[in-house]
Amino acid sequence: MTTELIFPDGFTWGSATAAYQVEGAVTEDGRGPCIWDRFSHEPGKVEGGDTGDVACDHYHRWREDVALMRELGLGAYRFSVAWSRVIPEGRGAVNSKGLDFYDRLVDELLKVGIEPFVTLYHFDLPQALEDVGGWPERSTAEAFAEYAAVVARRLGDRVRHWVTLNEPRVAALAGYELGVHAPGRSSVAERLAAGHHMLLAHGLGMQAIRAESSSAKIGLVNDPAPCHPASGHPLDVVTANLKHALRNTWMLDPVFGRGYPALLVEALEWDQDEVLPGDLEIISLPTDFFGLNYYTRDIFRSPDLPPPDAGAVTPGDEFTDMGWEVYPAGVLEMLEWLWHEYGIANLYVTENGAAYGDTDDAPPFRDPKRVAFLRDHLAAVHRAIERGVPVRGFFQWSLLDNFEWAFGYSKRFGIVRVDYETQKRFVRDSGRFYSSVARSNRLPVGD
Ligand code: FCB
Repeated sequence: MTTELIFPDGFTWGSATAAYQVEGAVTEDGRGPCIWDRFSHEPGKVEGGDTGDVACDHYHRWREDVALMRELGLGAYRFSVAWSRVIPEGRGAVNSKGLDFYDRLVDELLKVGIEPFVTLYHFDLPQALEDVGGWPERSTAEAFAEYAAVVARRLGDRVRHWVTLNEPRVAALAGYELGVHAPGRSSVAERLAAGHHMLLAHGLGMQAIRAESSSAKIGLVNDPAPCHPASGHPLDVVTANLKHALRNTWMLDPVFGRGYPALLVEALEWDQDEVLPGDLEIISLPTDFFGLNYYTRDIFRSPDLPPPDAGAVTPGDEFTDMGWEVYPAGVLEMLEWLWHEYGIANLYVTENGAAYGDTDDAPPFRDPKRVAFLRDHLAAVHRAIERGVPVRGFFQWSLLDNFEWAFGYSKRFGIVRVDYETQKRFVRDSGRFYSSVARSNRLPVGD
């Protein structure tokens, strides 16, 4: 039997992308290089030697892509602005042609009734700023605030929703400690300094946006995920709690006025030298919303225990092409946790989606696994709303197949397939499914 879950009136249905992953045109109209240009051109850093040089050519095809979103009946588009298009050297001279691009995009979106949600930073630091130290330097946070002011001055009369930074957790950890994202550094101290300055940039950026646009609604996006112990054994519980601090509360406690979690500070022996008086006040300035990017959960086993036995928590048997467990209950768990723990009044799921390869190489591009993934996660989001969690909208990741960072073009997340040879777009079944949900505000569940 099929039933329908009805979402609240005014619920925002959107799709998300990010500048470096879709735009291409990396040397056009005065754009300066960013850290991903440099990193992706270094041999061995990205699968297949892929780069974002062309990506989905969204810089030229944006009109077509907006038309596609309109056809799908989407109500919102979350995209990011490339800092180095707007200020090619990171600080100083503004490139008006770069701003013009986003200006036209915003106008076109509004013309067809799609609300822009603008992310100011999605992993693509101007290379010129990296050359003088990058995020581990405090000046990068100040530069971000200047850049935020420039963009808000130009778009703030039309853009209401702003995200300061996307996933500073990932940007700091993957870029500065694990070295698998740009700029490819490997230092715990730099990760912590970078993370702190990203949060400071968030606070300073909010002040800058508000100074330009009094009606702005501003939020931060991060990717907290359930950190489950593999068993009830105290050592597993301790391990999972530590991971929770390292992954989740690191980037959330300071934003909600609690400072950095003691567990993290102790475990990483962080001297906090870069945390200056007043920083935590700026970082914890009130936000209007929080954006949750949710993909999967993690299960942790203490290294001091033998492999878990039959009674243990183990992953299910569904995984996406990223190797990530399909775990829809996690989005409910995280939404409830964010609401209860921090009392957040407005939550959005700012990313959720799945990488799966196509099983057919011609239209109609059936993708039953992506459809099921979306349906099950949306049902969990609906359950959160039923339980009272103030979820205001959902952004599916991603509108288009795109440059998946260190995985290049090998992972496909789009509800729209991109043929990279011809740049043709094909709406997959998941796109048709999502479209019907977005249009009707209803989710069919059951057989
Ligand atoms: C998130 C990123 C996004 C995309 C998805 C799969 O961490 O914000 O750009 O790569 O993962």
